[in-house]
Amino acid sequence: MLGLGKKHHALLGVDFSAAAIKVLELGRSGSSYRVESFAVEPLPDGAVVDKECRDAGAIGAALERAVKRSGTRLKHCAMAVPSSTIITRTLRLSSKLSEAELEGQVSVEADQYIPYNIEDVSIDFQVLGQNAANPELIDVLVVASRREHVESRIAIAEAARLTPEVVDVEAYAVDHATRLLLEQLPDREAKPIVAVVDVGSQVTSVYVMSQDQGVIYTREQDFGGRLLTEEIMRRYDMDMQQAGNAKIHGELPPDYAASVLEPFKQNMMDQVQRLLQYFYVTRPQDTIDQIFLGGGCAAIAGIDEMLEDVTGTPVMIANPFRGMPLARRVNQQRFLNDAPATLTACGLAMRGFSG
Ligand SMILES: Nc1ncnc2c1ncn2[C@@H]1O[C@H](COP(=O)(O)OP(=O)(O)OP(=O)(O)O)[C@@H](O)[C@H]1O
Ligand SMILES: [Mg+2]
Repeated sequence: MLGLGKKHHALLGVDFSAAAIKVLELGRSGSSYRVESFAVEPLPDGAVVDKECRDAGAIGAALERAVKRSGTRLKHCAMAVPSSTIITRTLRLSSKLSEAELEGQVSVEADQYIPYNIEDVSIDFQVLGQNAANPELIDVLVVASRREHVESRIAIAEAARLTPEVVDVEAYAVDHATRLLLEQLPDREAKPIVAVVDVGSQVTSVYVMSQDQGVIYTREQDFGGRLLTEEIMRRYDMDMQQAGNAKIHGELPPDYAASVLEPFKQNMMDQVQRLLQYFYVTRPQDTIDQIFLGGGCAAIAGIDEMLEDVTGTPVMIANPFRGMPLARRVNQQRFLNDAPATLTACGLAMRGFSG
């Protein structure tokens, strides 16, 4: 079950990362959203390794705790498989096919380019529209994921007594949330290509979106805030939890800024620069007009200006909830810190309200 279709009721967005589970509920009235509930629950080391859910029991228990702490009443959820685990193709098919014929044709064609046994994959497709060169044809986006990536997540949600309704792809969820970021730009028409840079705990991802075509590029690298946490642990003799808290609350010795934080920030700039360079090598004709900086590391003071200096591209912190009302049960202080790290969960929660 990969579900890219339209849903019409609120869904709990559930984001599985290597280090934590995030759950987010949005409410909607008219065209505006409201944050109803949110929680982050840490995962034990080794529970998710290389995007694979290794310890389903521990992840299910963490998800159950997150749901409880968030206070949400939703039972239906939307989740995502990592972008690196999927294969996408755009097929050109006859515009005269009925829905059923289209489905059959997609299966037949998919079998030819998916390097796995067709029984082992979950497939979904979406009609993108008429082919630009030939009006008799339509472009159809086909997304395939190995069944195990989809099924392991479904099993975990069910173990936490949730009903999975949508299994999306991380990049598409981020693309969805990016719509809220674009609305915050005063001059979005002047910025046809934007990038979301997400610097998390262990992974840094770059997503490049064209406002017309959606996601046109994704790439990720092993890099994230965990390296900073580990350096704090080593230098100041703290355990992981102490180091993580000290980092967020700024309770560290005076030499921290210059000798620990500054080298990390430099390293972060190098990593992001490299990821962006890969994009420019692949698409030399394109220019990124705006960067949205997300992930937990976006909360480091001044990091947006630093990235703007290094890249020469305008940088805005990726907070999809700017101007959105928060329900009273959401911890404001914590939410403000975590908002840029909530893009995937946000895009998933939005699935309940739009295609
Ligand atoms: N205020 C802050 N200052 C510095 N670092 C912070 C701050 N808030 C969060 N972080 C760091 O951000 C990281 C978590 O980011 P995020 O929630 O985006 O990661 P994740 O999605 O769980 O992991 P990943 O995407 O790598 O699988 C942690 O290393 C955390 O310490
Ligand atoms: Mg993340």
